[in-house]
Amino acid sequence: MPSRRAFIGMAGAGGLALGLPRAFAAETWRAEFHTALAAEPWLRAFRSVEAHVVGADATVTGKWPRGLAGTLYRNGPARHEVGDFRYRHWFDGDGMLQAWRLSAAGVRHQGRLVETTKLVAETRAGRALYPTFASQPPDSRPVTGPDVINVANISVLPHHGRLYALWEAGSPWEVDPDDLTTRGLHAFSAETAGVPFSAHPRVEPDGTLWNFGYASGPGLLVFWHIDARGQLVKTGTVAVSPMAMPHDFMVTSRYLVVLLPPLHYRPSEPATTFLDAHRWEPTQPTRVLVLSKEDFSVVRWLELPAQWIFHFGNAWDTPDDTIHFDGASAADPSAMFESFREIMRGRYVAGAPTRHQRFRLDLRAGTGQQARMFDERFETEFPAIDPRVGTRRNHRLVLLCADATRPVAHPLLNQLGVYDDRGERLQTFRYPDHVIPEEHLFVPAPGSEPEAQGWVVGTGLDVATDRLLLNVFDVAAVDAGPVATATLPYALPLGLHGKFVAGTG
Ligand SMILES: [Fe+2]
Repeated sequence: MPSRRAFIGMAGAGGLALGLPRAFAAETWRAEFHTALAAEPWLRAFRSVEAHVVGADATVTGKWPRGLAGTLYRNGPARHEVGDFRYRHWFDGDGMLQAWRLSAAGVRHQGRLVETTKLVAETRAGRALYPTFASQPPDSRPVTGPDVINVANISVLPHHGRLYALWEAGSPWEVDPDDLTTRGLHAFSAETAGVPFSAHPRVEPDGTLWNFGYASGPGLLVFWHIDARGQLVKTGTVAVSPMAMPHDFMVTSRYLVVLLPPLHYRPSEPATTFLDAHRWEPTQPTRVLVLSKEDFSVVRWLELPAQWIFHFGNAWDTPDDTIHFDGASAADPSAMFESFREIMRGRYVAGAPTRHQRFRLDLRAGTGQQARMFDERFETEFPAIDPRVGTRRNHRLVLLCADATRPVAHPLLNQLGVYDDRGERLQTFRYPDHVIPEEHLFVPAPGSEPEAQGWVVGTGLDVATDRLLLNVFDVAAVDAGPVATATLPYALPLGLHGKFVAGTG
């Protein structure tokens, strides 16, 4: 267990290089966005929410599958404007947690902005007070630690009866799983309070929880091992120089694996935001860190070519010390630096497309290989698996994709894909051009064998009717289209990640 001294730097101001003094030029982004929105309905995906709390019963059409009951919790940036200020990046907005409560009796929806320290202070002030990941409002206050600007807007973690809204670089915000009210910042132990806990923890089928976090100032990766009852088992740190910006990681039966694309933290260079304190250095490799789950001090370093990856599907290891995994790989992080910025003022700028890749790390030889999984024309993101096969070899992979040979009326991903490597078959469902799909998840049928029966459950924004939808597909026949659809009487901005909790809904 690292010393308390090691953690103090991560919980303090050194965690993120924010609060730099130069403000943006005069505010024009909000006006630019609303002008563009009037002409482009798909930009409704990036509007700001107005209400802090929403809720309604959905209208269900189709045939609701017997056995599908539970809650789909989702999270994503939703308050993109505070006062007159509009954020400069999709990932900056304050998080709204949602619960879709599903049962044969009907579908109910709740949404509530996470009542973070920042949200409460800015709501009271009526203006943006703090810098964020990639925005610096005028007259910003200094940031004394990551949780001051922790907007809880990326993902959600249900664990041992508790529910957490997660940001990338701070503490989990605990939220009431029933009414979504915010309980407060969660610490797994007194000495790890405020230590970064990433938005992509991995939970094994037995409930064991693993995560990483990164603290750019002190140049440390931190690793978390938490048992199925939510008790901290151990933590560890690995010094990394230069620090990168890992978003997701992987867990196998024996290892934790982190890829560090060459997006390097270079705080000595002039920068206005945390994102801008990073430099893409494509002549450098993607560093691959492999840790022993048993002992975080046992580490291996390997290399892969320079590439940018937000998300991995799954990973597993084999007795010959080989690690297999898949991920959505892009040539560079231009989507994050350009597309997800310009979209906030209503402009679309294409970033490097992602192509799903299969990776193989040979730990004995110290080498890594990768190969494209699908036809070159498929852009992919948001990979998901049957959660019961996490850390073990999976056959099915759920993802969103787009087919470059079939143009769409908006620039976002527009197809659901389900791949099965038994037959190497990719089934797809193309959403109509007025529906923008969000992440879709594999929801197992109760009592079924892993990866056998189940559904794909995913939400989407209908920009023609301005309604939020939830669709249910048979995982074995997604190309037949949804078997049931739940439609809300309102819309919300496009979110990011969710988790399904089986139960009574
Ligand atoms: Fe993510």
